Amino acid sequence: MSTATAPASGGTTADRPAARATDTILVLDFGSQYSQLIARRIRELNVYCELVPGTITADKVVAKRARGLILSGGPASVYDADALHPERGIYDLGLPILGICYGMQLLAHDLGGRVSPAGRREYGLASVVVDSEDGIFTGLPAEMPVWMSHGDVIEELPPGYQVVAHTVNSPVAAMAGPNGRVGIQFHPEVAHTPQGSAMLRNFLYHTCGCQGDWAPEGFVQQAVAEIRERVGSERVICALSGGVDSAVAATLVHRAVGDQLTCVFVDNGLLRRGEADRVIDVLTRSMRMRIVRVEAEERFLRALEGVVDPEEKRRVVGREFIAAFEEETALLGGAAFLAQGTLYPDVIESTASDTFAARKIKTHHNVGGLPTGMRFQLVEPLRYLFKDEVRKVGRSLGLPDDLVGRQPFPGPGLAIRVIGEVTRERLETVRSADWVVIDEIKRSGLYPRVWQSFAILTPISSVGVMGDYRTYANVVAVRIVTSEDGMTADWARVPYDVLSDISRRIVNEVPGVNRVVYDISSKPPSTIEWE
Ligand code: XMP
Repeated sequence: MSTATAPASGGTTADRPAARATDTILVLDFGSQYSQLIARRIRELNVYCELVPGTITADKVVAKRARGLILSGGPASVYDADALHPERGIYDLGLPILGICYGMQLLAHDLGGRVSPAGRREYGLASVVVDSEDGIFTGLPAEMPVWMSHGDVIEELPPGYQVVAHTVNSPVAAMAGPNGRVGIQFHPEVAHTPQGSAMLRNFLYHTCGCQGDWAPEGFVQQAVAEIRERVGSERVICALSGGVDSAVAATLVHRAVGDQLTCVFVDNGLLRRGEADRVIDVLTRSMRMRIVRVEAEERFLRALEGVVDPEEKRRVVGREFIAAFEEETALLGGAAFLAQGTLYPDVIESTASDTFAARKIKTHHNVGGLPTGMRFQLVEPLRYLFKDEVRKVGRSLGLPDDLVGRQPFPGPGLAIRVIGEVTRERLETVRSADWVVIDEIKRSGLYPRVWQSFAILTPISSVGVMGDYRTYANVVAVRIVTSEDGMTADWARVPYDVLSDISRRIVNEVPGVNRVVYDISSKPPSTIEWE
């Protein structure tokens, strides 16, 4: 994940999506680890949705012309003194509300019911029995598996509410009341609740009356018109990273203002094999963009000399990027706007209140922060989109599949996949091993089904035997993970034959490697990248 870099100063971005569908659903975030997932599920159902702080004011909800609200789960107990509650006025708006887990307990507590600690906590799979087959359960089986995760129960329903589903341990697994208000104790947004999307669909389409007119592809025309209006006749620069987001953002801006856009590609020498050439080739030849390529490998390698600490590596890469970018833009004679491929999860992360902001595990850099002296207004056409939506936009802009479907790649690049000091030779080793991993994963058809697949060069040497000779050479680790959004991940259960081909090819094709290991850690407790 990249972190949205704030403008050095003076940058503003319109506080609304480039393409406003007619229906908007707001997810009020009370700190659940699944809040983003709820928003994504709703967008997958073709309804535009935003994640907002749980403490949003009723006035703001009205201003966003929401058709319905979802109260997310959260780690607190509603009866705690410091628990967060929606503003009272939110309930008075008369909008349909779906409360999920903590959100359902909020509904119960705030509207006159009673919530207390459960005798027995309920985590994991449960079987829910539907007591009333309408509302969110319309058209669904009478009994189905759901994912539970709660320690509180509803002791007393608010006036006007009735139980619409139960489980063995939860007499109130779902409740419904007037004004299209529904509470469910389980999580419909997770994959472990197979009918979860159908329940959300019922809420959106039947209870809230949404039309389902949100489609990322439909976003292009309006985004282009808005960029054109905002930028006028000014110049725009865009830092291309080689990844999907900046390529799609640049393509949108280019479609809007043509040659007023200049892209700067800082080749830091830390990219995957062929990556820089491919992106530049596509964008210059098919899209006819003006791209300045800055050859900065030497500069980055020099700056990384002797650096082994992962955070220090990130800082160095970020700093050198800024310097190289700044020098180049000065040569170009400046620009009023800077286009960035900031995505919605970055926006959420950077605007999350301290209560909810995930503790910083790693400093993530894409563009790496901007120098304080630079004054740009930001153009961030993707700031309301999730990654899968960006891919759809990219495809509808005519970008080729191999570019649009590319797996995420960290801003500091291969520098954080060479554990220990980064040297040209070690970079080449990891780059060659990475090439094999990607090649084999593509050949097996797994590439689009996993989140990331890559090689790490460990600082370990091991003894081996090749031919009649003893070797003492590098150990390469292979990491292949599945994930929804990079926040949590699991190691991919790749067929042994594929792993075997990867291992054999790496040892045969990459000089200086005599052993390959497969990383079988999930996130958490590990992270996806090793550094
Ligand atoms: P971790 O290693 O934190 O990675 O589990 C989660 C996702 O973020 C990517 N990542 C980065 N992306 N700059 C980025 O733009 C970074 O510094 C960075 N570090 C990790 C990682 O590849 C994974 O997709």
